[in-house]
Amino acid sequence: MNIFHTIAELRAWRKSIDGPVGFAPTMGNLHNGHIACLKSAQRSALHSVVSIFVNPTQFAPTDDFAKYPRTLDDDLKLLAENGCDAVFVPSVDQMYPGDASTKVMAGSMALGLEGDFRPGHFDGVATVCLKLFQIVEPAMVAFGSKDLQQMRVIQQMIRDFNMPIHLDAVPTVREASGLALSSRNRYLTPAAKTKASELNRGLHDALQLVIDGASPDEAESRTTANLEEQDWAVDYIAVRDAVTLQAITPGTTDVAVLGAARLSGVRLIDNITAAYI
Ligand code: PAJ
Repeated sequence: MNIFHTIAELRAWRKSIDGPVGFAPTMGNLHNGHIACLKSAQRSALHSVVSIFVNPTQFAPTDDFAKYPRTLDDDLKLLAENGCDAVFVPSVDQMYPGDASTKVMAGSMALGLEGDFRPGHFDGVATVCLKLFQIVEPAMVAFGSKDLQQMRVIQQMIRDFNMPIHLDAVPTVREASGLALSSRNRYLTPAAKTKASELNRGLHDALQLVIDGASPDEAESRTTANLEEQDWAVDYIAVRDAVTLQAITPGTTDVAVLGAARLSGVRLIDNITAAYI
């Protein structure tokens, strides 16, 4: 497995190989959700690249950038075991030299939901993804459905900027309990981790309420109240069109129930989607 720390090294390797590259960007602290993204890249392209970069521009000053878990040795081992061809591990200076000032303003997909709670977050995500795509030159990129809004923001950027890149949506990898795998799960105590699957159950309950004829508003508020009774601090529970992330309409073909909530101070997000008939 090739490990590159500089843009020049990655570019030299990229020039030396023939055939399409599949790319899975990550912030490290890898788990099976990330590996599912790597597998998707491997299925779709001849060469696979994973990046590991904790991107400072997508964290708010109050966020957990400094304490974001960094486990590079374990990450590299896991990627090698899973047959990754090349890993790009740039420093912050490589990605953002002192004079870098141009930014991407994420499109309409970034409005609402996470956008309301993490101002500027998706601009940082879109900026670093554009830079990584320019460096890696992938024919396809793999993004996890776990971060549905992030995936939509990147799909929108690819379309709006006419990038010749196909995006693969990777299904969310979960624990048997339903809890979506996430780097943040490591901050949960064993007791909180057992409780954490309540968020996913809540999303399923909300979906069932809508299927049974409740309005999205009613499903959202009943589910929120339920989670609050179970000691969750809920940022949002939202029943949306899974493609536009707007309110469902008569034209909606797929529905998404998205949620963000904090359990003993740890903020978790999740979503489920279903055909909407
Ligand atoms: P990170 O949180 O490390 O996630 C990297 C990729 O793994 C994302 O596409 C994410 O959706 C996917 N992923 C995370 N948990 C998953 C799970 N349980 N099942 C399936 N896929 C999962 O998302 C980021 O990093 C950053 O914002 C990034 C895109 C790298 C830009 O900095």
